[in-house]
Amino acid sequence: MLPSVINSVLEMQCLTRKADTILGFVPTMGFLHKGHLSLVEMAKKQCDIVIVSIFVNPSQFAPTEDLDNYPRDFDRDLKLLAELGVDYVFFPQTIEMYPPGYSTWVTVEGVSEVLCGKSRPEHFKGVSTIVCKLVNIVNPNYMYMGEKDFQQIAVLKRMLLDLNLETVIVPCPIIREDDGLAMSSRNKYLVDQQREDALCLYRSIQHTRTRYQQGCRTADELLPEIEQIITENNGKIDYIEFRTADDLKPVDQLDKNTRLFLAVQIGNTRLIDNAFITI
Ligand code: PAJ
Repeated sequence: MLPSVINSVLEMQCLTRKADTILGFVPTMGFLHKGHLSLVEMAKKQCDIVIVSIFVNPSQFAPTEDLDNYPRDFDRDLKLLAELGVDYVFFPQTIEMYPPGYSTWVTVEGVSEVLCGKSRPEHFKGVSTIVCKLVNIVNPNYMYMGEKDFQQIAVLKRMLLDLNLETVIVPCPIIREDDGLAMSSRNKYLVDQQREDALCLYRSIQHTRTRYQQGCRTADELLPEIEQIITENNGKIDYIEFRTADDLKPVDQLDKNTRLFLAVQIGNTRLIDNAFITI
């Protein structure tokens, strides 16, 4: 059976306000792949009712970014969600989420300003605003989010804490293609050689893990090696950084709590990845 599609904010609010069950929520921008579906599967295991939102949020795209071309296929998404037994799909229109005169924004300082926040300065303001609105509308007990966007989780955890919102984020592992490329809606843009070049992100992670096992413990030593892997595969580096997993503080001396964060442009496509450096 297809999930019930709800377009109206009011209808969604009425439905979830009266629920006395455990409600799991998976916010997405659609064009679903196995990464998204893994979050839904986790939610189905842990919750009584599962709601997935599909909303390509304009405020998290810069004017130069791919909002208009962002891939969409609602009918296919709905069928995939039906196969997993999702109860409701919240599919609002932009005009209802951002009506004329819309003026309120959520800004999370600090953690939004590093990594992706440097090259996409307005991005996390858009993300935290829309997720704050979605949490207010859906009122879930648990919100399932992928570690593919590790910084997004850190920003939203801070927001939920600071704004006294009771929803708990459940972080879920990164789902990869067989060759290691992290699944992403944007992988669709990669053509021919670019798909091969895109493997430089995962290769950088594997290289780091091998070097760590060999005893290498300093960022200074590893960063040029990773840089070389990326540039020899035609990647343009946005950032390569080692940071702590819990509060995203920069790390010079690597240990088991260190995560590697990468953002690389392949052709016109910006790809991100991250991983613990120990397995
Ligand atoms: P979107 O890019 O559609 O991703 C929706 C969720 O799927 C996010 O939590 C993301 O981390 C997760 N995800 C994407 N690829 C994944 C992968 N390979 N493995 C595991 N999880 C993966 O993230 C957004 O949308 C938006 O910013 C949103 C939170 C919906 C706000 O607009």
